[in-house]
This record gives sequence, C-alpha cells and structure tokens, in this order.
Amino acid sequence: MVITDTVFLLRSLVVRESAVLLFCSVRGMWQSRGGSIKWRWKFSLGDKHGTRSCGPNTVWFGMFLCSSSMAGQGFFKDIIDGEVFKYYADGEWKVSTSGKSVGIINPSTLKTQYKVQACTQEEVNKAVESAQAAQKLWAKTPLWKRAEALHRFAGILKDQKNPIAECLVKEIAKPQKDAVTEVVRSGDLISYSAEEGIRILAEGKFLVSDSFPGNGRNKYCLASKIPLGVVLAIPPFNYPVNLAVSKIAPALIAGNALILKPPTQGAVSCLHMVHCLHMAGFPKGLVAAITGKGSEIGDLMTMHPGINCISFTGGDTGISISRKAGMIPLQMELGGKDCCLVLEDADLELAANNVIKGGYSYSGQRCTAVKVICVMESVAEELVTKIVEKMSKLKVGMPEDNCDITPVVSQSSANFIQGLVEDAQTKGAKFHQEWKREGNLIWPVLIDHVTPDMRIAWEEPFGPVIPVIRIKTVEEGIHHCNANNFALQGCVFTKDINKAILISDAMESGTIQINAAPARGPDHFPFQGLRDSGIGSQGITNSIHMMTKTKSTVINLPSESYTMG
Ligand code: G3H
Repeated sequence: MVITDTVFLLRSLVVRESAVLLFCSVRGMWQSRGGSIKWRWKFSLGDKHGTRSCGPNTVWFGMFLCSSSMAGQGFFKDIIDGEVFKYYADGEWKVSTSGKSVGIINPSTLKTQYKVQACTQEEVNKAVESAQAAQKLWAKTPLWKRAEALHRFAGILKDQKNPIAECLVKEIAKPQKDAVTEVVRSGDLISYSAEEGIRILAEGKFLVSDSFPGNGRNKYCLASKIPLGVVLAIPPFNYPVNLAVSKIAPALIAGNALILKPPTQGAVSCLHMVHCLHMAGFPKGLVAAITGKGSEIGDLMTMHPGINCISFTGGDTGISISRKAGMIPLQMELGGKDCCLVLEDADLELAANNVIKGGYSYSGQRCTAVKVICVMESVAEELVTKIVEKMSKLKVGMPEDNCDITPVVSQSSANFIQGLVEDAQTKGAKFHQEWKREGNLIWPVLIDHVTPDMRIAWEEPFGPVIPVIRIKTVEEGIHHCNANNFALQGCVFTKDINKAILISDAMESGTIQINAAPARGPDHFPFQGLRDSGIGSQGITNSIHMMTKTKSTVINLPSESYTMG
C-alpha cells in the first residue's frame, strides 16, 4: 500500500565545519510489506541510478542529517545578505533601506557575533499594513487549516533544532543542551496551541433571555470568540525562541496576524525560527519580524494604530509600553523576585536541589529563578551547607561546553549584578564563595545573613547570585515576599500540605509552587505576575483567550418560545 510519495532534493549538506556536498535526487514512497513499513526509494547520482529500501529509523536519521544545516546556511541561506541577517515581511526576506545594521555581541567572547537589519519606520508601517490585509483572509481560513499550518511549523522547527540552538549559544550564551531543549519545547508549545485552539474556538455560547428578570424567552444570544487583528509580540533575550512562539502560536491559531520585534540579543535565533514558519507556508504578510533599534522603531510599534494587542516579556520597559499603548489588550510579564520559603519540617535535600536547579540554571537569568531564600533559623545552617556543597559541583565556563554557569548576557548586566553584590558586601553579608568575575562570566555565589537594608534583598539580579534571609517566623517570610514590588512566583518547602496551602494563599504572587522551584511550565498552565511583575495571564490557554474578543449575535423572536420536553 502506498502511503505517500515525496520528492527529496538534498542539496548542500554541511556537517559541522567540514563541507560534505551531497547532490542527488531521491524519489521514494512508503510501502507496507509483510506487516512492516519500509521506505522504497530510487536514486540518481550523476549517471548512477538504483533502487533501495530501508526502515523508518534510517529515514529519520537521514532527515536529521538533512536538517543539520548551520546558522544562516543551507536551509537558512535565504535569511542572510552578506554578513547581515535580513528582516521578514510580506512573506519575503528583505534588506532594510536604512543601509544600517545592529551588531549582536556574543556574551562569551564579547565580540560582534551577528548583525541584523536596522529597519526604518516606513518598513514598520508597511509591515503593519500587510499584516492587516493578510489577517482579513487568515480569519476566514478554516480553523483546522490554521492548525495544520501550525503543526507543519512545529515539525520544521524541531527538525532545525540544532542550527537554532547554535544561535542561542552564540547570542545569549545559553548552555548547548538547554538551547536544544528550548527549541524542542517551542515545537511542542506550537502543536499544543494548535490543538488547544481547536478545542477553545470550536465552542461558543448559546444564551437565552428568560433567565434575567423582566425577560421572556424571545432572545437567543450566540456568542463566539473572534480574532483581535494584529498582535505585536516582543519576547525577551532569555527565551527568544520559546517566548516568541508562546505569543505567535496562540495569536495565529486565533486568527490574528503578528508583528514580531525580536530582542536585540536573540534576534538571530528568532529569525531562524521565523524562517521555519515561512517554510511551513503561512500566507504572505501574516507574520513579520522587524529588527532594529528600540529607540528608532520601538515607540512607533507600541503606539501604532494598526496594532490591536501587545504581548511583551521583559523588564520595566513594559511599564512605559503599557502607559503609551492605546485601548488594546496587554499581556506583560516583567520579571520577579521569586521567594523560596523553607520551613522547619522541609525536606532540606529536596529544597537544596531545587535551589540549585531553580536558582542557578542559565546563570539565574530566568524570571522564575529562585531570587531570595527565606529559611527558618533552626534549619538555615543545614540548608546552606547542602546548597554550598552542591554549588561546588556546578561547572562554570562556556555554553559550548554545556557548563551550568555561563556568561551573563551583557556587560551592563554583569555590572549591575556586581553592584548588588558589592552593596551586600559593604553592608556585612556573609559570602560562602569568593566573588569572581571574568568578562561577563560570574562565578555563582550564595549570600547569607542578608538583611532588609541590602539591595539584593529586594532587587532582581538576573545572575547566579542568591541571597539568604534567615527568619524567625513563617510570617516574616510571607511578609518579605509580599512587601516586594515583584510578585511573579514563589515556593514553599514543607511536608505539611495543610500548612503549605495556607502559606500559598497568604503569599501574594501569581503562582506558588509547593515543594518545587518556581517555573513557568508546563506551558499550558496559567502564568501571571501580580503588582509590578505584569498584567494579564499567559500560558497557552489563557493566551488564546486573551488574543480573542467576544462577538455576539442576538436573534430576536417575534414572540416568546420555550423548548418543550
Ligand atoms: O524568564 C521568564 C520565563 O518565562 C521563565 O520560564 O520557568 O520555563 O524558565 P521558565
């Protein structure tokens, strides 16, 4: 039985630095023979022709090799012009008329790694115009077809995980393994969004009027979810791919168009991801990726009358964006000072492991990282000893070597972290490790006996630096958590689930984890910050809801009508 018939044209295949040129055309089909599925293919290479067959594993491996192009090469060759990556609009990769570019510094080498286009205001206006036109047609595309396109996008993205991970390593110094995980997680997020969109948008509401006093049953209301229009997505440097698709996929499945403003560091990873979307065959103009200087195009984008929704993740720039944006839905995640509350009856081994993973992974550059530990005095010594012992095993070095602690994203970020550390030093905090910094690489430190007068007790370092506050009562810990302007997540370690629930209720943060470090995922869970940590709730389901509005049609009957049994 023939299941499918495909033509593969394998052009240049680059494995690592060595160029292996494979140029052969392969025509094949899946066949079921004696219960097992085989790929039967005919090949021609020069004047040699033949027929072969092999099992699915061999085919998958071959496809993996086909996908092993490198950043800006092979599969991605169209997205670069000389040494500058292009921007994406109207379904095409383009060079900006500005003739200018923005350099991206590799945090490990401190040298310019990549360059992207510095787009002009005119190019922004044009992209928004095209997105508005494309959205009208996309909203009329059947939901199952939108879902199909997203599934294709997810598949291509996962196939291209290695070259995209390479960009993440070079642009934001994400450890290689975590970089691959980010891309795979993003593919899963896109597929889940497609499925969740089908579930959510397939349903509307049917209401009858006689439930409200004074009404008979002569009005039928049909309410459904419709798209907002054009969504502006602004992801941060630390998850340029994942936090971009967490905005793109819900927006597209809901029938919106999308303008993506990649972060400067992370832009090239974003552009590679967008090329996967391009290859999945979405309508021209529906998605644009505009790179450039925030100072030149930022305000225009966020205040553009053609933008109908903004989804932003980043720092306090979000506060000024929300002040400037018009009357449109906003989804903002602006960081956290996630408090880890450790009680006397806690499993200290579990708590210590979670501090290591939840506080130091990606060098603490996660909004959900553990950013302050409030531990009961009676168990503080034991907890600190365990954490310090585990910290000594963290590998510090380069992302290419898969080290646990890698350089932080920029020199200004490293300077800011150093400022917090020096402030704590002068105010008498106890350091369990010596302070060490080389370039942007900061060795992890645990800062003990931190007091409320120290900046590190309140501010978000976004680095491998965690303060410990020793508390006498649980209330003291809860108070510290609630007194902070940030309120994204928090966690509590205790074996008493009843106590944990009461504490979770008392901690005024968007999410409280019981017996685990803060985390955004699984990606369909609600994810929201209170106070200065943001507005709106994310997570796949909530994002789809947020990127739609309700439309009602009311049928007015000439007389009351009741459904009879
Ligand atoms: O940095 C902000 C991210 O939303 C955190 O995501 O918990 O999966 O690391 P994560």
